[in-house]
Amino acid sequence: MENLRIDGKRLWDSLMELAQIGATGKGGVCRLALTDPDRQGRDLFVRWCREAGCSLEVDAVGNIFARRPGRNAALPAVMTGSHLDSQPTGGKFDGAYGVMAGLEVLRSLNDLGIETEAPVELAVWTNEEGCRFAPAMMGSGAYAGVFTLEETLARRDGEGVSYGEALDAIGYRGAGLGGRPVAAYFEAHIEQGPILEAEGKTIGVVTGAQGQRWYEVTLTGQEAHAGPTPMARRRDALVGASRVVSLVNRLGLAHRPDACATVGMLEVHPNSRNVIPGRVWLTVDLRHPEDGKLQALCAEFERGTRAIAAAGGLELNLKEIWHSPARPFTGELVSAVRSAAERGGFSYRDMVSGAGHDAVYMARVAPAAMIFVPCAGGISHNESESATPGDLAAGCNVLLHAMLERAGVCGARA
Ligand code: GLV
Ligand code: MN
Ligand code: MN
Repeated sequence: MENLRIDGKRLWDSLMELAQIGATGKGGVCRLALTDPDRQGRDLFVRWCREAGCSLEVDAVGNIFARRPGRNAALPAVMTGSHLDSQPTGGKFDGAYGVMAGLEVLRSLNDLGIETEAPVELAVWTNEEGCRFAPAMMGSGAYAGVFTLEETLARRDGEGVSYGEALDAIGYRGAGLGGRPVAAYFEAHIEQGPILEAEGKTIGVVTGAQGQRWYEVTLTGQEAHAGPTPMARRRDALVGASRVVSLVNRLGLAHRPDACATVGMLEVHPNSRNVIPGRVWLTVDLRHPEDGKLQALCAEFERGTRAIAAAGGLELNLKEIWHSPARPFTGELVSAVRSAAERGGFSYRDMVSGAGHDAVYMARVAPAAMIFVPCAGGISHNESESATPGDLAAGCNVLLHAMLERAGVCGARA
């Protein structure tokens, strides 16, 4: 059993074929959640899972579950999964790797003629990225009961299209939500940060994920003519917004090395070069591995933003739209990942995830852990995102062995 290996070339080829769906000019992908490219990615996934002999189910928020039976159908499944949606200028591996690695595990079990004791399941979670519909990790969050079905389906994108409408448009609205018996959930992912590469390690044994809070800020001043309006009389919303951007960046730097603080979106109204901006909407993403420190960071941000608005004579609407607390993964499963890395002869280190992942919400309803592999320069959420076939295969081998340890093997062809 110790020598079982997945097929690294097949894993790589599947990733490259999937990456043709929504391919962008600079070598990345744009598969925004519940758009036609997302549907095409799902259709390909479903076809590949059927060809691998799996049964398929889709739930009420569009999460897809492929199932390979075990000897004992009464046992809770050992599950893996990730997401197929991407950022607008996303890479080929974020999410897709975890899904294709799970598929490669299923295909390898077939090739090796392995019967597991427990069933094995592979999930595709809807809208992990949170860029078309905010917040992130929505499908797994709805599955885990963090978001209700109604509020999930009612979320709207920037064009006013609801999640439910978009789900119907791609034909992926199924039935039921949550409650699948899951003995263990593992998720493989690229690290999306620079640590593994810098230290020359192949496997990240992920012990948990940092906490994050998302805000939406609207500053309202007064639109006025850019020529005749004296500087002293202005209530310029963009000047206020630029101070908020500086504040966010300053707070991130002040709480180095663990804090992360980002303004990712900015909308200026009316966005005309000779009108003093009357209204600006912006998003803020604050993260820290310790909940207490994240709380303090958020309090400083809220206080500072209020002061900026008051000083600029601006009306402020400050909304916290999402809080995902720091989430430690399950010790036993983290150990299973560590020991699979060790037995596979791969270099490894423990680490905390800087990014959010579906495993964070799955950890609320089942034991969960993650496996990271390096990505070039630590760059992700970028079309140039890249990882080596060897590292991707290593992570998939760790996934195979961690899953087999939990699922139990009753037999294999000689
Ligand atoms: C998910 O991609 C995140 O923002 O962490
Ligand atoms: Mn991801
Ligand atoms: Mn992502």
